[in-house]
Amino acid sequence: MTAPRVLVVHGGVPCRGEVRTPGEKSISHRAVLLGALAEGTSVVHGLSDGADVAASLAAVEAMGAGVERRDDGAVGVHGGRGRLHRADGPLDCGNSGTSMRLLAGLVAGLEWETELVGDESLSARPMDRVAEPLGLMGATVVGHGERCLPPLRIGGGALHGIDWTSRVASAQVKSAIILAGLSASGTTVVREAVTTRTHTEEMLAEAGADITVEPWGDGRIVTVRASRLEPVDRTVPGDPSASAFFVVAGCVVPGSTVDVAGVYSGPARLGYVSVLQRMGADVTLLPGVPGTVTIRATAGPLHATEVGASEIPSLDEIPALAVAAAVAQGTTVFSDVGELRVKEVDRLAAVVTMVEAFGASATVEGDTLAIHGVGGPLRGARFDSLGDHRMAMAAAVAGLAARQGGRSLVTGFGAVETSYPGFADDMRRLTGVDAPRPLLVAIDGPAGAGKSTVSTAVAEHLGVQRLDTGAMYRAVAALALARGIRPDDAAAVAALAASSVIEVGELVVIDGVDVTAVIRSPEVGQAVSVVAANPGVRSHLVQRQKAWAAEHGGGVGEGRDIGSVVFPQAQVKVYLTASPEERARRRNDEAPEGVARRDRIDSTRDASPLREAEDAHRLDTTGRTVEDVVEEVLSWL
Ligand code: DC
Repeated sequence: MTAPRVLVVHGGVPCRGEVRTPGEKSISHRAVLLGALAEGTSVVHGLSDGADVAASLAAVEAMGAGVERRDDGAVGVHGGRGRLHRADGPLDCGNSGTSMRLLAGLVAGLEWETELVGDESLSARPMDRVAEPLGLMGATVVGHGERCLPPLRIGGGALHGIDWTSRVASAQVKSAIILAGLSASGTTVVREAVTTRTHTEEMLAEAGADITVEPWGDGRIVTVRASRLEPVDRTVPGDPSASAFFVVAGCVVPGSTVDVAGVYSGPARLGYVSVLQRMGADVTLLPGVPGTVTIRATAGPLHATEVGASEIPSLDEIPALAVAAAVAQGTTVFSDVGELRVKEVDRLAAVVTMVEAFGASATVEGDTLAIHGVGGPLRGARFDSLGDHRMAMAAAVAGLAARQGGRSLVTGFGAVETSYPGFADDMRRLTGVDAPRPLLVAIDGPAGAGKSTVSTAVAEHLGVQRLDTGAMYRAVAALALARGIRPDDAAAVAALAASSVIEVGELVVIDGVDVTAVIRSPEVGQAVSVVAANPGVRSHLVQRQKAWAAEHGGGVGEGRDIGSVVFPQAQVKVYLTASPEERARRRNDEAPEGVARRDRIDSTRDASPLREAEDAHRLDTTGRTVEDVVEEVLSWL
């Protein structure tokens, strides 16, 4: 299941039916980590299929735990302290802050040094909150700068218990200390003034750890001692944070009724439901299997409310609630949400950008976010997730909340792989709108019109791949020349095209030979027109080009027949032109006569001659800047 990279959303299409969100992420991470420590085989049903939990799984596997994906969809983790060893390289936590913070606690108790690395966004997230207590317990934790940014090098072993009072409300920090406490001498105590997610304590108790919990004001005191863990069989309930997106969709898109079934109903996880109810939403909780609920949301008018951070402890549901606030009548105020700035991206800024793009407005003062709702449907918009899964899903819901006929485009949508790879499929099921067609942009035109430059820039802007079909024809021509096959030997060249493996990306490689440079040589320039006019060659290459689009979930294609033959279904087709003088100047690798000769052959050949697709936008790039041209192409989306 690969999420589309760009999601096209039709506004005002009601959501009806039932969905189940992926396995709860926090429980999934902990099931994996405790599985690695437990002496024996733990079996986890309904484990989250997102990339974050996959990072935790890969990390414990690298340390020697066995991971088995069973036919029934469950995951078996063969663990035990005796199995764990120093990993061969750094443990890659990807985008997952939970993986990094929890693993930090786990590896602090192991007698060797472990390196934890993450992607660019995770590498900007502070780890000092775990580094400090783990350091006090006797581990050495080294990161970058004052806030201890990843990569982290953790030298573990010989820990002793501490009595720690949390300064930030963070289940990740609490859990890191508790996990380290499992290997520490003496007693480890964590006091938190506000109760954060309690999975670590609960799941450790189930696994037989020596752990106790007592109330402490609004919070709790957790006490843990060194313990041997037993394996546990468990079913992970549905993720409540993920449920917020479709519940909000059910509330804000007129005519909707959505059931999100099997959602984890543990304490402090469904605070967002109370917020929606205060906004006047028709949301009810129906009992499910123990520990879970079905959340039923029916659309109706919403009004503003005030939201305190303690209601939504992780703040994970704020992007979804922001969409409800944008639709509501009045100003919804979210206080103490400054922590949003240090999520996968600066989510506070991202929420403001999103809300404004979709036609509402927002202001931030200190740590308070105010969203001024429009009191009705939003407008269609273009929004980039910046690689943040929750922003991508929230924007998809905002797109549904747009008025009928309003179309929205969420770029960077592939970010949902982090936590909810099947989001677009579930959305399709609920809306009954066919698979949002993968976004295809077809860019065509004669040599030197700017196809490569413009298609590269458009692809980059949309966060999708680009396919240079001309490079494929050139690669076949280059291989024919290298093998001593005459370009006009139609049968031999067609056979070559049929049998060769061609990759076109940053490098152009045919049958394992890097031809990136040689395909731009005058010899290949000469030969390629004849090769491209060969119907046998064309049919093989066109077939592969079509397959490329399916494999990549859409993209930007460039080439002579791209809009008419290869991607006739493209949402946007562009035919670039430029004056002959300018085209010859841009083609400084070729003499003007060469360019003219190739144009002539390309447009008079029998097989797919160069011709403007009827539904293409014609764009003369003479004297225009790349930015200007790209902006115009994007405006047609
Ligand atoms: O775009 P280009 O100059 O790299 O293309 C090389 C040759 O291949 C040129 O003669 C046009 C031809 N071509 C084609 O016939 N069909 C395509 N889809 C792409 C290129």
